Amino acid sequence: MNQDLKKKSSAIAAFELILPKLNKDTVLGIGTGSTTNFFIEELNASKVEIKGAVCSSAASESHLSKNITIISLNEVHAIDFYIDGADEYNDRFELIKGGGGALTREKILAYSSDMFICIVDDSKHSDLLGKFPLPIEVIEIARSAISREVMKMGGRPVYRNDFITDNGNQIIDVHNMPMDIPFEVENKINNIPGVVENGIFSNRKADVIIKANEDGNEVLCIEK
Ligand code: A5P
Repeated sequence: MNQDLKKKSSAIAAFELILPKLNKDTVLGIGTGSTTNFFIEELNASKVEIKGAVCSSAASESHLSKNITIISLNEVHAIDFYIDGADEYNDRFELIKGGGGALTREKILAYSSDMFICIVDDSKHSDLLGKFPLPIEVIEIARSAISREVMKMGGRPVYRNDFITDNGNQIIDVHNMPMDIPFEVENKINNIPGVVENGIFSNRKADVIIKANEDGNEVLCIEK
């Protein structure tokens, strides 16, 4: 099975997992990326009736069918299910996200959700996070200052050329960042002035990971 088929398979499994729980009051959170796009295809095709969806990017909003109401997070109390992919995950359900640059909104939606279902293929697994360069969304004037701080932490920052986030900011991708204790790194980076958000999801990790491999899907659930 190629990677796209695996992504599609995990997206379909996520949709089937939540389908029995969807009703006219349900608010879905929808992330960003190629795996999430397969989930959006399922949702669009189903014609299921829900209250609406909060998206983590303009790109995902544009893929939703006109039958799904797009809602702002400010209009709802919570998100029932947040569905999104990841660039890397470990056995503790910690993630690196932001390859598509939507990490800040993704983290806000994850924090606002009752259940975060992460859809991945098996190539995204890591024993130790950090193989995928860590994206950091930064305020433009702080980019060099933040890069210097990140270098002191052992990482190699690379400015993401010609990319502006939906929030009007820039992205630094940090290679080889030591990440033995992900939540410490997550907190330390977010304390640097000018950092908007970083792509470590450790303080709010996934509740469920649906991992597609050659033999099908494995649904892994974290104990709360
Ligand atoms: C978007 O900013 C990212 O966090 C994506 O969720 C992540 O990059 C996964 O993308 P794919 O599903 O395209 O691999």
